[in-house]
Amino acid sequence: MKVEFYGHVRQYKNIQKEIDANLQEVLLSGNYVQGPMLKRFEGELAKYHGTKFAIGLGNGTDAIWLALMALGIGPGDEVITHPNTFFATAEAIWIAGATAVFVDCDPVTKCIDPKKIEAAITPKTKAIIPVHLYGQCADMFAIKKIADKHKLKLIEDNAQAIGASGKGFKIAELSDAATTSFIIQKNLGTFGDSGALVTNNADIDAKVRKLRNHGSNARNVHSFGFNSRLDDLHAGVLSAKLKHIDAWNDNRRKWAARYTAGLKGAKNFTLPTELPGYRHVFHLYIIETKKPEQRDPLVDFLVKNNIDAKTHYSIAIHQQAGYPWGKGARIVGSVENAERNAATCVSLPMFPELTAEEVDYVIAKVMEWDKAQG
Ligand SMILES: Cc1ncc(COP(=O)(O)O)c(C=O)c1O
Repeated sequence: MKVEFYGHVRQYKNIQKEIDANLQEVLLSGNYVQGPMLKRFEGELAKYHGTKFAIGLGNGTDAIWLALMALGIGPGDEVITHPNTFFATAEAIWIAGATAVFVDCDPVTKCIDPKKIEAAITPKTKAIIPVHLYGQCADMFAIKKIADKHKLKLIEDNAQAIGASGKGFKIAELSDAATTSFIIQKNLGTFGDSGALVTNNADIDAKVRKLRNHGSNARNVHSFGFNSRLDDLHAGVLSAKLKHIDAWNDNRRKWAARYTAGLKGAKNFTLPTELPGYRHVFHLYIIETKKPEQRDPLVDFLVKNNIDAKTHYSIAIHQQAGYPWGKGARIVGSVENAERNAATCVSLPMFPELTAEEVDYVIAKVMEWDKAQG
């Protein structure tokens, strides 16, 4: 048996008629950039999040730095996040010209640890970017309390958790804006790149809408801006897929529960934790080896057994060669939990179209490896 890491083609085949119909509608409309399909998808995305606005953008990285720019955050300002996220979270802070300030993650959820944030706040701090890492929301109530106390802006990096929720809060409810990525491997992904920002703030909406289109709302009338639009073909794919996202996330949760039941009792790694009252959407199912030196042998063992295991993300941002590349960066306190996460994480195959046989094969092989460790 071979178990792939992604199921893009299976997913396409399952809803091919719906996707193809939308693509054809766009192709025959003659409108491919900022056309009616983008408008439709933006409306659907805003409705899905329960926000007033949604703006389609070129990718999830742009969504973060355009949000920062719309909030007036740039050179001389500091933005707090954590170093065991995908590189783009920090990259977006640097593109905006601000300083990235890293604090540790929570040892259980791997999302930013709210208890570590206040020590990092200085008069230059302007915003916090929590990441809903692996598909589970960060503790937004605790983070919002700190943001309010210190008058900081809050941007949720929601590239990995569309459809997730926390105990008593929804994504984009407690922040200034939430950003997402639609790169193919995300829970909601198109066949290529794109992203979006959702917000209830009319000023952010107006600014980002203009910035994404060469600083223009009207033909031939410009201010400084960029080109970061979500084109209508991708919007058509996403509109078709958005109708299925809750069911797909339910499937991810089902496979996660099966992994967790099957791997319970293993001695050489820990399993992911879903916080009570949270809806974790398992963008990734991450186990962590007890010892860092066990990680690569486990991945090799799985790959040799035709299981496409990966790591997310095996080198923390501040441990990348050349860090911080001449950009502003600070680390506040120990970031040992983030470093341990990077050193021990193993991602098992996780996508809605997995089969029970595939999940059981992965469980059997991981448990075989575990027993062999003693
Ligand atoms: C946490 C996180 N932030 C930001 C991004 C950036 O998104 P994109 O690749 O669409 O620019 C990604 C994914 O790629 C991500 O996982």
